[in-house]
Amino acid sequence: MEPDSSLQTFLKSSFLKQEDITAIHRKEKLFSRKNDVYRIEVQSMTGVKNYVLKQYKGRDRFSRAKNELFFYDLLGGDKLKVPGIYYSDREVMVMEYMGSRTLLDYIIQEEDFARDKDISGSKDYFGQLKHLAGAIRYIFGFNKRLKRMTGKSYVLNDMNHRNFLIYGLEVCRVDLEECREGAVEEDIGKFIAFFLTYDPAFTEWKRSVAGSIKSFCRHRMDADISTIDREIKKELERMTVRRK
Ligand SMILES: Nc1ncnc2c1ncn2[C@@H]1O[C@H](COP(=O)(O)OP(=O)(O)O)[C@@H](O)[C@H]1O
Ligand SMILES: [Mg+2]
Repeated sequence: MEPDSSLQTFLKSSFLKQEDITAIHRKEKLFSRKNDVYRIEVQSMTGVKNYVLKQYKGRDRFSRAKNELFFYDLLGGDKLKVPGIYYSDREVMVMEYMGSRTLLDYIIQEEDFARDKDISGSKDYFGQLKHLAGAIRYIFGFNKRLKRMTGKSYVLNDMNHRNFLIYGLEVCRVDLEECREGAVEEDIGKFIAFFLTYDPAFTEWKRSVAGSIKSFCRHRMDADISTIDREIKKELERMTVRRK
């Protein structure tokens, strides 16, 4: 993509004032249904660096941008990894680029690996899927953290696996627009519904791993399985409606 002069004027005046920016390029459009999200490359006297530019779209964009910034601020600098925020206003955010590897890429890769080996007798196979386990722990960690801070139960809500990034050895979460009050079992149920339906959907491997996720949530996280099952069903029904 070409250098974008309006983008440059806008960002130069408001973002990274401390750096002497010589050019900004939109390099790549990232997968988004709701907004315009780009990896941008910023050239300055000190070198070239990647950031993410998120331009909120839609009539409710101001409230979604505000909600997202609120939750990024709450989580920033804590154990639950989120990108650093460099600039934000009513409809734009510029944040740290957390790499290109998503949890969806990881799961597709692990299912491929599993095709070539027998995992049926493998002890704690779910634990070995460390980034999947990391995402599930993140969901519980988020709920626990917010309970500690506010006394209320919150959910991340959007369980699209592209919103979990594998950053080094850690799981990093983006897209906090839809965070709201709710039971942690809602997130887990939605997560499992998304997990089961990524292509190739409902494979034996996916069903077996989904069983391990549930068992981990029941035995290790003390979650309510009947609520999770109900939430999986609800999300699968919503997906059928969405795809019609
Ligand atoms: N800071 C970031 N670093 C790397 N990739 C990101 C970052 N923010 C977003 N992405 C990628 O771009 C996608 C779209 O951004 P997101 O905030 O989820 O927008 P939307 O709300 O429109 O889904 C994400 O699912 C993620 O894969
Ligand atoms: Mg998203």
